[in-house]
Amino acid sequence: MKLAYGLSLLSILIAPYHALQVPMRPDDASQAIYASPHNAQGTLISERTEGYVHTLLEKWNSSGLSVAVVRKDVTAPNGWRHEFGAYGVAKADGSPMTPDSVFAIASNSKLFLAFSVGLLVSNKTLAKERGKEIKWSTKIKELIPEWGLMDEDMDRGVTLQDMLSHRTGMPRHDFSGVQREGGISEMISTLRYLRPSAEHRETFQYNNLMYETLSYLPQVLLNQ
Ligand SMILES: *[C@@H]1O[C@H](CO)[C@@H](O)[C@H](O)[C@H]1NC(C)=O
Ligand SMILES: *[C@@H]1O[C@H](CO)[C@@H](O)[C@H](O)[C@H]1NC(C)=O
Repeated sequence: MKLAYGLSLLSILIAPYHALQVPMRPDDASQAIYASPHNAQGTLISERTEGYVHTLLEKWNSSGLSVAVVRKDVTAPNGWRHEFGAYGVAKADGSPMTPDSVFAIASNSKLFLAFSVGLLVSNKTLAKERGKEIKWSTKIKELIPEWGLMDEDMDRGVTLQDMLSHRTGMPRHDFSGVQREGGISEMISTLRYLRPSAEHRETFQYNNLMYETLSYLPQVLLNQ
């Protein structure tokens, strides 16, 4: 997403918040398409979306943000259209946000984790190898040997979906997520010493350790 790709800057909007919209050109051959009137006027990031972005900046007293929109479009060169928007200020010196501004990813990494679990769920080759599909309702105990929880129902019952939905019954216990010599495997094997604070599926309790546990799946299932 480097500007150096030679993005065609079709729609640069200098709005009160320094809005910048950059339709991405996936390859050189696509230049003509992106320069076409259709794409020039029909930008993916609508005025309404922009308005919403500005209300968010205000609501959170945020200095800046950037967004990416991807839409399937059979008329686009590779079947997809992309557009980036950048709003507000990136640095204390007042320089504006760009689509290349770097952010701390924080828990947005959870989106990628959930997506990667989805890849395992939809992996037919893997299902054939194991002789069994992995489903959202698959119990984590069936997949990870190190798994164990203090509460028997939770230990046996927790599914991939429960973990992704923060409804296992476990509270955060974030201090248990410290880096360990034995890595994630060691962290998982100590989950059994942590007290639950609700019953399985009783309530929503944000839990990073469950996501960390799921990040171990590729290693266990694909040796990757
Ligand atoms: C908004 O953020 C600025 C710094 O970016 C800060 O000086 C100001 O106090 C904040 N306002 C509120 C209401 O939090
Ligand atoms: C699907 O599973 C196969 C076989 O285990 C593996 O080689 C491949 O990398 C997996 N694909 C994805 C997208 O995870």
